[in-house]
Amino acid sequence: MQVKHPLFFDIHQENKDADIQELIQGLLCRQATLSPKYFYDELGSVLFDAITLLPEYYPTRAESEIFVDQASEIHAQFPKQATWIDLGAGNCQKAVRLFKHTMPANYVAVDISTDYLSNNLKDLQAKYSEVRVIGLGVDFSSSLTFPGKLKELIAEQPLLALYLGSSLGNFNSTEAFYFLQRLANLCKAGQPGSGLIIGIDLVKDPNTLERAYADALGVTAAFNLNVLRRLNSLLGSDFDLQDWQHCARFNAQESRVEMHLNAKRDLAVNFHGHQRLFKKDETIHTENSYKWPIQNFSDLLLKSGFTNVQHWTDSKSHYALFWAS
Ligand code: AVJ
Repeated sequence: MQVKHPLFFDIHQENKDADIQELIQGLLCRQATLSPKYFYDELGSVLFDAITLLPEYYPTRAESEIFVDQASEIHAQFPKQATWIDLGAGNCQKAVRLFKHTMPANYVAVDISTDYLSNNLKDLQAKYSEVRVIGLGVDFSSSLTFPGKLKELIAEQPLLALYLGSSLGNFNSTEAFYFLQRLANLCKAGQPGSGLIIGIDLVKDPNTLERAYADALGVTAAFNLNVLRRLNSLLGSDFDLQDWQHCARFNAQESRVEMHLNAKRDLAVNFHGHQRLFKKDETIHTENSYKWPIQNFSDLLLKSGFTNVQHWTDSKSHYALFWAS
């Protein structure tokens, strides 16, 4: 038997100096801020997977519920013999579970680095020999260009872009608009039938929202605090994790859950020849997770250039899956 191997394209340039500059800038702002992309080192990725299993963290389960309960309507929209572009694929499980309903011709797993992807994709290729499995390492939040060879490979089939897990929630509405516009252009340039399936967390009562980001076991607290360990290793900073407390609150004005790290006392942090003083209760803002009303998100998809929009929700209307083409 012939063993097929997944194809890999790695165009993500690790730019450590730029990362360090960005981190320093963020820490020196009056409201200290970090990009949520720094959560996901090896431990951070495991902690995130644990978050998705917490009783309080409903988005992952709500998304699977929709995919199961409304499978026939959803898969009726999916192009057949298509190239799937799985944005932020991670462990690829969310997309692969859909293969039993619709089998793609090509499966392109996109993530910030193919390191995370390569083992998963080898197993996947072995299991699904009829699918061409491709890994693409790129920071797709800043650009969505495909290497020429990959473009040629996928030009003949319609595209199905998948953006699952409500990851778009990290973008504010302007960033989300530009991102969706790029996806709409990609679908328009693709073969007929191309489209996007995207998971969006909806606005709901603040208690449910805040509990999802401040769970009783403290897993989200560990996930948040872990970013300080990451900083200590990237910047050589001297954050003492004991001095900081996880905090999650719904900002209704901005329609987002904010995660912060709260200084428990007046303290100083040193990094790269800089010093930042924090007063007790001053915070580092580590993540925004935007929550959308259904109508606003529908409108945003139309404004971004999609012409056909449809959605499904879970039984509690906590979460929505949108189809856009
Ligand atoms: C991966 C961005 C979708 O915002 O719910 C979960 C990240 N942060 N708990 C989210 C997260 C804290 C998650 N996203």
